[in-house]
Amino acid sequence: MSKAVQKLFTEIAPKYDFLNHCLSLTIDRRWRDRAVGRLKGQKLTRILDLCAGTLDLSQGLLEEFPRAQVVAVDFSLAMLESGRQKVATSMACHLLCADGHSLPLLDESFDAVVCGFGIRNLECRQRAIEEIHRVLKPGGHLLILEFFRPEGGLAKAFYQTYGRFVIPKLGGLISKNPEAYQYLQDSIQRFYSIYEYQALLRDNGFSDVETQKLSGGIAHEILACKSPKIED
Ligand SMILES: C[S@@+](CC[C@H](N)C(=O)[O-])C[C@H]1O[C@@H](n2cnc3c(N)ncnc32)[C@H](O)[C@@H]1O
Repeated sequence: MSKAVQKLFTEIAPKYDFLNHCLSLTIDRRWRDRAVGRLKGQKLTRILDLCAGTLDLSQGLLEEFPRAQVVAVDFSLAMLESGRQKVATSMACHLLCADGHSLPLLDESFDAVVCGFGIRNLECRQRAIEEIHRVLKPGGHLLILEFFRPEGGLAKAFYQTYGRFVIPKLGGLISKNPEAYQYLQDSIQRFYSIYEYQALLRDNGFSDVETQKLSGGIAHEILACKSPKIED
């Protein structure tokens, strides 16, 4: 677990929602709504919201799946506390402050795992995907929203301009933590491309990997299935 990343999110927690909506011109809400919609129609009773942050996805999941239990995991208590109000009326949301690399959760105990803009922050990518795979039931779904390293086109131009000059400046000014918003941008350039991440998923027991560009490839949504067990 990275103490530096944990400290960073703890420091920006009070301003996280405001800055997210402001820097994305509220498009982030649409991305999350759309992601929750992708799971619609599935029979989900236990859902893990990994790197749940201020609980926007958890809130959406509870609305879409009123009979499901949602376990929201994040290693920054301040992020979870900032969002607690959003799920306060639900008895079905369980907040858990824990490291995503080592989840205190049983094997094969979730029908779905969602991770919104968190997978890039889990420093050991291999360990993180193994943990997700472990807690998912065979046939269960993994849904990821993330900013992958752009390889060209509109997304690359966006990151070289708005991402490079506006986000660190504005984010730094409002959060009073310029390092945090610089880190968030730099971490995109150091992260996998969407193609590399698809390969990681396939190499780690996921199949039916579907990806969707969001806003011209600025973000991506991935839906993948934990390959069912083959009985001999
Ligand atoms: C960019 S925020 C995303 C929050 C939320 N899912 C959303 O859609 O806005 C990333 C979150 O991942 C959490 N995080 C980063 N590394 C983690 C780790 N190793 N274990 C658990 N949570 C982690 C951070 O504390 C932060 O709340």
